[in-house]
This record gives sequence, structure tokens and C-alpha cells, in this order.
Amino acid sequence: MKIAVIGGAGYIGSHTIIELYKAGHSVVAVDNLVNSCDESLRRVAEIIGQPVPFIKADARDAAAMDKIFKENHFDACIHFAGLKAVGESVAKPLEYYENNMNATFVLLNAMRNNGCKNFIFSSSATVYGNPAEIPITEKCPKGAITNPYGQTKSMLEQVLIDVQKAAPEWNVVLLRYFNPIGAHPSGRIGEDPNGIPNNLMPYITQTAVGIRKELGVFGNDYDTPDGTGVRDYIHVCDLASGHVSALKAIENKCGLAIYNLGTGHGYSVLDVVHAFEKVNGIKVPYSIKPRRAGDIATCYCNPEKAYKELGWKAQFGIEEMCRDAWNWQKNNPNGYRKG
Ligand code: NAD
Ligand code: UFG
Repeated sequence: MKIAVIGGAGYIGSHTIIELYKAGHSVVAVDNLVNSCDESLRRVAEIIGQPVPFIKADARDAAAMDKIFKENHFDACIHFAGLKAVGESVAKPLEYYENNMNATFVLLNAMRNNGCKNFIFSSSATVYGNPAEIPITEKCPKGAITNPYGQTKSMLEQVLIDVQKAAPEWNVVLLRYFNPIGAHPSGRIGEDPNGIPNNLMPYITQTAVGIRKELGVFGNDYDTPDGTGVRDYIHVCDLASGHVSALKAIENKCGLAIYNLGTGHGYSVLDVVHAFEKVNGIKVPYSIKPRRAGDIATCYCNPEKAYKELGWKAQFGIEEMCRDAWNWQKNNPNGYRKG
């Protein structure tokens, strides 16, 4: 299939392009580079041994999206483009709602106007709020969301459900990602956050490489085995291959389909720190800090539905996630931009 990969220069998009090529698909990556740089795509090209067609454009630009969809006759669109920092979304709600909602509306219109009816959306475990059940199945009701970023995911899921209901010939796959970490095993592409990382793994790797002094562990008084927060970390390459499987659902005319993409295993913050130290032979200094506002104790999924219906399941364990995250960081201490 020929796939439009919107937000393709970013962390998950760049890894997904590799898996799409491996599965025999072709892509055009589109990105405005607001949170990435095209060096990621140059490195993807190096890995796959062929150039990655790339168009620098904003997904909110209706004329640009219409032209791209008109000229390319895509079979499907995978939509990664969005602003994603939870804390920043609380400080800049308008920017988050404006970007994430409008980008999706414009894309859907460009698709509708040009006969592309297959859509894969990057949703998030955040839509479950403080989950009503653990492990979380797709039947778990959506929960109260405490930040504008999460609201955009939940609202856009509803938009997409309604769009598909009104046009049943559309195939729409909502992928609810759990916590992607790690990097391509080559060490050439990985997560390159701007400024101080919000997420656990980039904070750990930046501490290990000496950019940060120590990791703050946000709370050790949760109702979890060691008191620190438990999450379902998933290797970004496994998450990427989940998109290839979602295309199979589309080929089978799935209509609307919703899948959790996680491993089904919960690891605490200290489990991750200790796994990282063990597999990489490097110390990660840390201290216990107060809880972070909006965090929940435990979040991990039941990934059976994706396995039963798509044959997809995560292949990599926490050791590989920690090994590949460190391989990326130590080879690119300043990410893509500075060497
Ligand atoms: P990322 O920031 O690395 O990638 C997103 C890409 O979209 C960036 O390259 C950015 O430049 C681009 N972009 C943003 N707004 C755009 C616009 N208006 N037009 C064109 N390009 C635009 O983030 P990621 O970690 O790769 O996440 C990809 C998607 O998955 C996002 O929608 C994110 O919300 C979602 N998601 C991520 C996580 C996570 O932990 N990384 C978890 C759940 C869901
Ligand atoms: N944590 C720390 N110290 C840090 C960073 C994080 O102790 O410096 C802890 C958090 O308190 C939490 C765990 O590590 O217990 C994971 O935190 P992350 O910030 O890495 O991830 P979250 O689970 O909070 O959220 C992430 C993305 C969201 C997405 C969600 C999906 O940031 O966008 O996963 O499950 F919605």
C-alpha cells in the first residue's frame, strides 16, 4: 500500500516508516518539523537503503494537504502529527487544542475530497484516565482526563468514531499506545526531546550520559509493589510494527477498530531504573520526589485483542528496551541536532 505518514519525522513515525518498508509498503512522510528534524528521515533512509520521500508541510494547511492527497493517491493515512507534552498542554491549552484538533480535521477533509478512506490514529492509554480495570481491555470505559493533551486524544477518537459511522465504507483504526520507549537497535534513530525530558526513559538516559544530575522519582507511596508508578512500557519498534498489523485490519475492511498496543506487563519506575542499570552496567543516580500532579498509580493493558485479531504482539522485553534506549543516547548524546 502507499501510505501517507503524517508526523513521520517524529519518534514513533520514523520507527514506523522502517517497519512499513520492511513489510513492502511505500510511504510519503509529511511533517512541519515543529518537534523533530529531517535528519531522522535521512537516517531512516540509511537504514532502509533508499530515500524516504518527505514533504515539509503543516497538517493544518488545507491547500497543502489537498495537493498532497490529490497528487499521491494514497491507500491509507497514518496520523502521528500532534503536540504531545502533557505538562505543556496544561500551560498552553489553546495551542494544543488548535494544533491537534485542526490538523486532524484538515487531514480528514483532504482524505474525503480525494477518495482516501483508510485512517490510523495515534491515540493513547491516557483516554482511560484512572482506569476502571487492570489490566485494561478495550472494553474499559474511558475515564476522566486531567489535561488538554489527553482531551484532544479522547475528543478526536469520538470525531473519528462519528466520521466512520456516517461513512461505513471508511476503515478507521484507533491505536491506544501505552508507554513507548527504546530506539531502533542500530542506534541511529531514537527519541530526541526538546529541553528537559518529561518522560521517564529519556530522563534516565540523559542522567546516565551526564546531561542531568539525577533522576527524580515522582512518588514512592503509591499502592504498587514498591510504591512507585507502574506502566506498560513497549519497545518503539514493537509499537511501530503494530501499525503494519493495523493495515492488515484495514485490508480486511475492519470498519472501526480499537486496539491497545502494549506488552501487558507493568513495570514500576524503580524496576525500569534497575533493569537499565543491570543491562547497561551503568548507575542511574535518583532521589524520591513528591508525586507529579495528574499521575496515576498503575496503568497496563491486556493486549490480547490485537493478538487475536491481528496476530500482533510485542517481541521485545524490558532489557531490550533499556539496551536500545542507551545505545541511542550514548551514540547521540545531544540527539539529532548537535552531532
Ligand atoms: P513526536 O513529537 O516525536 O512526533 C510528532 C510529529 O508530528 C513531530 O515530528 C512533529 O513535528 C509533527 N507535528 C506536530 N504537529 C504537526 C502539524 N500541525 N503538522 C505537521 N506535523 C506536525 O511524538 P511521538 O512520540 O512520535 O508521537 C506520535 C503520536 O503518538 C502523537 O500524536 C502522540 O500524541 C501519540 N502518542 C505518543 C506517546 C508517547 O509516549 N510518545 C504515547 C501515546 C500517544
Ligand atoms: N516518572 C518519574 N520521573 C520522571 C518522569 C517520569 O518518576 O522524571 C514516572 C512517572 O511518575 C510515571 C512513570 O515514570 O510513574 C512514567 O511517566 P512518563 O512521563 O514517562 O509517562 P506517563 O505514563 O505519565 O505518560 C506517557 C505519555 C503520555 C501518554 C501515556 C500513555 O507522556 O502522553 O504515556 O500511557 F498518554
